[in-house]
Amino acid sequence: MRIGIYGGSFDPIHNGHIALVRDALASGFIDCAIFVPTVKNSFKLDTMTLPAPYRYYMTKSVRDELVAKGLKDVYVCDAEFGIKGISYTYMTLEIMTDPEFMTEFLIEQGIKKKKAEGPHEYYWIMGSDTLGTFENWFKPEAILRHATLLAAERPGDKVDVYKAADSIRENLGGEVETFRLNGVDCASSEILKSGDFSQVPEAAREFIATHELYTERTRLKGVSNEAKTKFFESAVWMYPYLGEKRLLHTLNVGYLSAELAVRFGADPDKALIAGALHDCAKELDIDSQREMAADYCGDLFTEKKLLHSPAGAVFARDGFGEKDREILDAICYHTTGRGNMSTLEKIVYLADKIEPARTYMDLEPIRKAAQTDLDEATRMTALAIKAKFDRQERPTHPSTVDMLRDLGIK
Ligand SMILES: [Fe+2]
Ligand SMILES: [Fe+2]
Repeated sequence: MRIGIYGGSFDPIHNGHIALVRDALASGFIDCAIFVPTVKNSFKLDTMTLPAPYRYYMTKSVRDELVAKGLKDVYVCDAEFGIKGISYTYMTLEIMTDPEFMTEFLIEQGIKKKKAEGPHEYYWIMGSDTLGTFENWFKPEAILRHATLLAAERPGDKVDVYKAADSIRENLGGEVETFRLNGVDCASSEILKSGDFSQVPEAAREFIATHELYTERTRLKGVSNEAKTKFFESAVWMYPYLGEKRLLHTLNVGYLSAELAVRFGADPDKALIAGALHDCAKELDIDSQREMAADYCGDLFTEKKLLHSPAGAVFARDGFGEKDREILDAICYHTTGRGNMSTLEKIVYLADKIEPARTYMDLEPIRKAAQTDLDEATRMTALAIKAKFDRQERPTHPSTVDMLRDLGIK
């Protein structure tokens, strides 16, 4: 197969990206196109606004929309999640052009084994503007060893695509092909600046609305750059351990915890990390969870549903390297609460139950209370959970009994 690879931040993905892929496919140079969301882009180290899993799953949602609308042969690949540190294009290509990797990836996409096994030719899809700077990229020869550049050209381009292509052929000995782009002119940075999301595909707009992305909250006001970086890293670290829904939930809790911390006088850096990591152990096998839980607090937690909380503290500590005891405690007690909870612990407990993607009950009254009164919002949450437990005739954990007592609930 002739495979086009299109790397980008997709922060957010917009109709310009779609047009590029659509026209690249129409050009006849490639048989399929693969979006590869960047995990840590060398060009945009400080400007990327969302952790990689959001951008990856948002792009996937758009892919499903494209397929439903008849644009088949487009895929999304998570190849960059395995790269430690900055993801340079040549590294992405090294991974993706590995025959074993690509065969497995294509089979997962539903392509027949014989076709998936290749042989394959690779094309790196790019806009005209990026072609103009290609010779300054990191290890351009290594990129060209793996792939032919497939560059868009359109009337009014600031870069002379043909001249840039000739220069690359001459100086680096690589292959460059061009195709005509008829797409819309838009840029993610402009969309974010203007707040006009009309050029963002519907599936992505829905995704953005569900998780309340690109809002005041996700700008992480009050959070240090170190904590923001750590948050982004935690998202990539958790990616292999959690499915889409749980991973996005736990990251949403990170964002909301940081916002609540600013509002109620806790440390937003700690809240961001504790919230983000709170469910990190939830999809580990139950024996590992049990062992980790015992490590953190002996036999305090034995019920299956509760194990992931103390186990999460240990996994965050030993797996991710988080050493802060307040953060680990907030993770440990996020399900049950406990007596004498710190503000940080209350925040993570609350954020877990009301982050924007949660829909298990009418949360509006609690969300409203959380605008002004942390204790009241926590009390309302604890009461709702107690009522559910009573209905199910489930015993209340002693730590929860202590929390309820502190909150004035019998
Ligand atoms: Fe949990
Ligand atoms: Fe949770």
